[in-house]
Amino acid sequence: MLVHFVTDSPNKIPAIRAMLEPEHAVRPHVLGAGGAQSLSNGVLVVDADLRQAVPVEHLKTVMRNLQRISEKLFVVQSHLRDMIAQAFALGATAVVSRPREVVAKLEQVELAERAIRAESSDSMSEVANGAEYFTSLFSSIEAGRRITLLDAEQATEEVINGVKRSGLNAWLDDVRRYHEGTFQHCLLVTGVAVAFGLQVRFPDADVKRLGLAATLHDVGKARIPLAILDKPGRLDPAEQEVMNRHPVIGYELLQSIPEFSPEILDGVRHHHEYLDGSGYPDGLKGSEISDLVRLLTISDIFAALVESRPYRPSMPKQDAYKILCDMDGKLEGALVRAFRKVALG
Ligand SMILES: [Fe+2]
Ligand SMILES: [Fe+2]
Repeated sequence: MLVHFVTDSPNKIPAIRAMLEPEHAVRPHVLGAGGAQSLSNGVLVVDADLRQAVPVEHLKTVMRNLQRISEKLFVVQSHLRDMIAQAFALGATAVVSRPREVVAKLEQVELAERAIRAESSDSMSEVANGAEYFTSLFSSIEAGRRITLLDAEQATEEVINGVKRSGLNAWLDDVRRYHEGTFQHCLLVTGVAVAFGLQVRFPDADVKRLGLAATLHDVGKARIPLAILDKPGRLDPAEQEVMNRHPVIGYELLQSIPEFSPEILDGVRHHHEYLDGSGYPDGLKGSEISDLVRLLTISDIFAALVESRPYRPSMPKQDAYKILCDMDGKLEGALVRAFRKVALG
């Protein structure tokens, strides 16, 4: 389970990590350090002194960004009982008196979530599972931890099952309804790529390879500042330059892990290359761009166009497909035509 640990002191982070990892992925946020991202996955654990005005003010800002997280545990020491009301006023859904009790509480949350997932539709549970794997994949990378092929394969498997069972449209709708930002994008690209692989009747092993490349294609974004990644509206040239480093960053992150095959590394590094040589980072041309990358690039562009962002509605699929058709010379025409059923089906 992904745990967002919000604290007023970085000194509290090693203890919570020692307690919760490796079963849970701990993502620490120190109050006042900035970079509070809008998130909707995982559980929030707050351990801060609620008697102090400054952390409380910072906490209010953070809580606004995390209001879509359903479980919010606050650690309030038992001799500070009057702070319990303050915790609930700030949005706590439960209060524990010692950090140790967080472990038991998380177990309860996990059991309750499992029960809800078992009751909900198959597609929704796969979206939830897929999202959880994606979230922990990205938080591991942000925290500088090594990811494994198994982590990425599990995330991909959930998407393949979801798309096979419910179809791409249901997958796209569920993902856009419940997820935001880079997670939404990666879940969408993977869903689109898997549907594309199935449409062109790839054998299962090739659908998996394409899905895995899609899962990992933007891992480099985990190292791009959130101010750029989540900026509403257009990036300025300097910001764009930073953003355009993500394929190389992702490639370098995975290159040191022998489990990841050269074709996955190729997908991560080259998914922004165009057949006419106008892409980046290596300006590859024509036959230098592999088939897997060509499919991935089409899936990536389409998913980015139909993504929903807080500041703009998602583009209708017909309009997004038309943009792909107008990119003749950059994308392979025969593949774009084969993609028509995926995009409009
Ligand atoms: Fe990308
Ligand atoms: Fe992308």
